[in-house]
Amino acid sequence: MTQDDKKKAAANSALQYIQQNSIVGVGTGSTVVHFINALASIKHDIVGAVSSSEDSTKRLKALGIEVFDLNSVDNLDVYVDGADEITKHKHMIKGGGAALTREKIIAAVAKKFVCIIDDSKQVPVLGDFALPVEVIPMARSYVARELLKLGGDPVYRQGITTDNGNVILDVHNLKILNPVELEKQINGIVGVVTNGLFAHRGADVVLVGTDSGVTTIE
Ligand code: A5P
Repeated sequence: MTQDDKKKAAANSALQYIQQNSIVGVGTGSTVVHFINALASIKHDIVGAVSSSEDSTKRLKALGIEVFDLNSVDNLDVYVDGADEITKHKHMIKGGGAALTREKIIAAVAKKFVCIIDDSKQVPVLGDFALPVEVIPMARSYVARELLKLGGDPVYRQGITTDNGNVILDVHNLKILNPVELEKQINGIVGVVTNGLFAHRGADVVLVGTDSGVTTIE
């Protein structure tokens, strides 16, 4: 089985969490592309979606799924998204696709976060994957200096502007032993919009595509 087959299996398995006549929270990334395709197969059973990126919005609309503004949605039962790294505590690094801020907002609103991954994303400690931090452009150098003080090596993601008009610093060489605390600390730096640690609000269910099928971690 390829990594992509495993992503697809996890994505298809997330359909079991989608309720009739609901609005579904949809993340971003290559695993979510499989989920969007699966969601299209039940599009007549749902009301529509809220989306964490322009890319996912385009894909949803192309498949005939209505996309709602989050501000017009009172109730969101489920948010389905991938991760770049995840621990057994369901703490994650996200934002490889630069959509971390909108992802974090929808995750905060949703009652249940269903994380869909292939088994290469499971790690004992977060930090091998560089931690994305979304930053207001004029604060880029200041925030980079503050991140250096925290022991990381920030690298400006050249040529990328987020859907919110900001830039991304990817912080390398962090060994994240206390993700809840580091998430708070980085978000406290002036000029940071948010960072890709999803620890304060981690996943609730993890669907892992493996060689022997999909494993559920609750
Ligand atoms: C997008 O900004 C990310 O948070 C994705 O959820 C994460 O990068 C996982 O992406 P893949 O599904 O492409 O591995």
